[in-house]
Amino acid sequence: MRMNPFVFTSPTKVRFGEEGLSSCGDYVQELGGTKVLIVTDAFIAKSGKLAPLIASIKSCLGVEPLVFSDVPPDSDVSCVDKGASIARENNCDCIVAIGGGSVMDTAKVINICLSLGGDLLDHQGINNITRRLHPLIAIPTTSGTGSEVSFVAMVKDHQEHKKMMFGSPFLAPDVAILDPLLIVSLPAKLTAATGIDAVTHCIECFVAQGTNSPMTDSLCLEALRLLKDWLAIATADGADLEARSATLVASTMAGMAFTNSGVGVVHALAHAIGGKYGTHHGMTNGVLLPHGMRFNLPAAEQAFARLARYIQVSEDPQDTKAAEALIDWVCGLLDELDLPVNLKQLGVPELNNDSLSELSDLASSDPAIMFNPREVTSEDLVAILRGAY
Ligand SMILES: NC(=O)c1ccc[n+]([C@@H]2O[C@H](COP(=O)([O-])OP(=O)(O)OC[C@H]3O[C@@H](n4cnc5c(N)ncnc54)[C@H](O)[C@@H]3O)[C@@H](O)[C@H]2O)c1
Ligand SMILES: [Fe+2]
Repeated sequence: MRMNPFVFTSPTKVRFGEEGLSSCGDYVQELGGTKVLIVTDAFIAKSGKLAPLIASIKSCLGVEPLVFSDVPPDSDVSCVDKGASIARENNCDCIVAIGGGSVMDTAKVINICLSLGGDLLDHQGINNITRRLHPLIAIPTTSGTGSEVSFVAMVKDHQEHKKMMFGSPFLAPDVAILDPLLIVSLPAKLTAATGIDAVTHCIECFVAQGTNSPMTDSLCLEALRLLKDWLAIATADGADLEARSATLVASTMAGMAFTNSGVGVVHALAHAIGGKYGTHHGMTNGVLLPHGMRFNLPAAEQAFARLARYIQVSEDPQDTKAAEALIDWVCGLLDELDLPVNLKQLGVPELNNDSLSELSDLASSDPAIMFNPREVTSEDLVAILRGAY
């Protein structure tokens, strides 16, 4: 069979290594930045992690960067407005984001406001950003979201109780600095929660209907193998740098894959639930993943079997059995990582007809659902939600 046509884009320069922050000033200079806004959260600002970053930028530009450290978990439009005003008032022309997915996504949306101005709503959705933004350097301190290389950013719209989604290749950071030392302080619970997000990216992307290619396939396969071998170890011993390195690189690889090929029903529902109830993105994906996989089995059995054999959770030549083994492995991993296994444990209040229909409407209009390997009806979404409760 001839290979399907595909486009694979990964514009971000990825620099991996310990003590990576000292290289940031050089990258800012290379990108033509003259005044930097560092976007981060209160924890990172207090942790002392910023000192080498500030020193590197100051020594290269001769100008101290500004620090905006007010980003909350799952940040929102008001935080974006605040960060953009500070950047504008101080003539910043380069953004450095250091933090988890919430910080990196907020920095991307601040950059939209700073670079393009106008109403944020005009830039929302897929491919509504039509020109280059100011340079952005992303430095992840969690390993899971892949936002350091992805074309996607999500922030909450509190008035609407949902997440605003922005998707464009222009949102890909110019440079991602991956330093495993920055992740050592991440507590076990968040290591597990962010890691299961990366696991979900690998599995959903591998069967998604975006422009899948041998390039995205190889990223998903190898990233999932790294996560299978190292995520539980990183969770049990956060100081294990081999495990931290493997899971950090795996989550970036998964980010490169899903930004090209998409995700699916698990992410669509996780966005809806996270927007309405404020649950953690990765943990929500973890709860939904076995249910979404079971729903997708009729369209994805062969691909799940291939993943199962590659990561060596099954040697069974029968696809049905190997695919089931992958779902069993996911369930076992949730247990091993001590993650919630249903929506109730996640803290979602009992779902009645109104909330079920609201969540299914939100998920139906989420861009992630377009890439699911099977068509998903509102009834299917309600059944998955009931099954996951
Ligand atoms: N843009 C994308 O491609 C993409 C993909 C998946 C998820 N997301 C978004 O990412 C967000 C979730 O990001 P996340 O899972 O990284 O969590 P997060 O950024 O919300 O961080 C969770 C908590 O971890 C803390 N933290 C971060 N790094 C730490 C460290 N090294 N040590 C100790 N504590 C640390 C933070 O202070 C915060 O309290 C969601 O908003 C989700 O929608 C984006
Ligand atoms: Fe995700």
